[in-house]
Amino acid sequence: MNKGKGTLMQVELKQGIYWVGAVDWNIRDFHGYSTHKGSSYNAYLVVGEKIALVDTVKAPFFAEMMGRIKEIIPLEKIDYLIVNHVEMDHSGSLPQFKQALPHVEVLCSPRAEEELKLHYGDAIPLTVVKTGDVLELGGKTLTFVEVPMVHWPDSMVTYVKEAKVLLPNDAFGQHIASTERFDDELGWEAIRPEAQKYYANIVMPYGPQVLKALEALQGIEIEVIGPSHGIIWRKYIPEITATYKRWAKGETEKKALVVYDTMWGSTELMAKAILRGLVEEGIPTKVYRLGVSDNSDIVQEVLETRGLLVGSPTLNNGVFPSVAEFSTYIKGLRPKGRIAAVFGSYGWGKGSVAKALTADLQAAGMEVAEELQVQFVPQQDALQRCEELGRRMAKRIKEGT
Ligand code: FEO
Repeated sequence: MNKGKGTLMQVELKQGIYWVGAVDWNIRDFHGYSTHKGSSYNAYLVVGEKIALVDTVKAPFFAEMMGRIKEIIPLEKIDYLIVNHVEMDHSGSLPQFKQALPHVEVLCSPRAEEELKLHYGDAIPLTVVKTGDVLELGGKTLTFVEVPMVHWPDSMVTYVKEAKVLLPNDAFGQHIASTERFDDELGWEAIRPEAQKYYANIVMPYGPQVLKALEALQGIEIEVIGPSHGIIWRKYIPEITATYKRWAKGETEKKALVVYDTMWGSTELMAKAILRGLVEEGIPTKVYRLGVSDNSDIVQEVLETRGLLVGSPTLNNGVFPSVAEFSTYIKGLRPKGRIAAVFGSYGWGKGSVAKALTADLQAAGMEVAEELQVQFVPQQDALQRCEELGRRMAKRIKEGT
């Protein structure tokens, strides 16, 4: 239920636990990640006999957050600020917050203590909490669990025992700006793709740590999950936790992605011939031309796709810039266990592009099963070879090896 007036609508998750964050309707680029649907920075107020704020918001939204809190309690009643994560979309308001309310005790993980000092200097006193530590608010008990690398080394989750509410910061988040706050208001079908894009672009390199975090949370009764971005989970908790487990294990579907760019159309001809081979063997395939497509949208697809075929023309004896940007991004995200192929055209510098792309995809943890380069414009025999490559890749994708 929404309470409050005008744009300042705080929302009660459970008795005494409120969303007091901010909706960022207009963000379209979140450190390089395209946020077509905007985002939100979710902060939560936990009201017991004492009062804790869990996380803050990105600095420009500080006043908005404080406005929401003010509609629930006088600001000076806040006793604690819990910093679950140091990244500035959540800790960005900390200096302003401490300036406004110097009496508030700030709690964070050991690693966050180091990182907060490296962001904001030494002036803010910090109280360190570790996994299993408890903060009694009176009627509300907060338990802390460190979940390193989900998404930074400092990351921590806060659990409110009496209310069975988990506040896991980035985990289970999605970049969605909306007037709806809860999953049952927006629906699984609308939220899942955004949760997938978020996991793929933010969390994918840390699958083993996600599995560890999920394990640590096993046996804890959870009725509400309040992530730090997007929609709050209360109906689809089994769905999102099971889906996270699949993503964290690197499970993929028998599908393929053909991702390429082209200068004079040769690599595009190759891409289309490869596509034909894949589709004729029954592999659902999507095609993205780099330069006109968005890396973060493609990576969303990579998360659940077994076969990745990357094509580049040769420019100055190297990979075409848009393809190099993509392969660098993929290398960092490490979507292990996929089967890859590289292809493309060249004029006189044979081999350099395939070598560079193969190195990036192998560094990402993929097996590069095929390499194919064609000089200048592919003729019928070369297109035939592309189609055959598509067919061979389709077999590998079906076998899962
Ligand atoms: Fe939403 Fe890692 O910050």
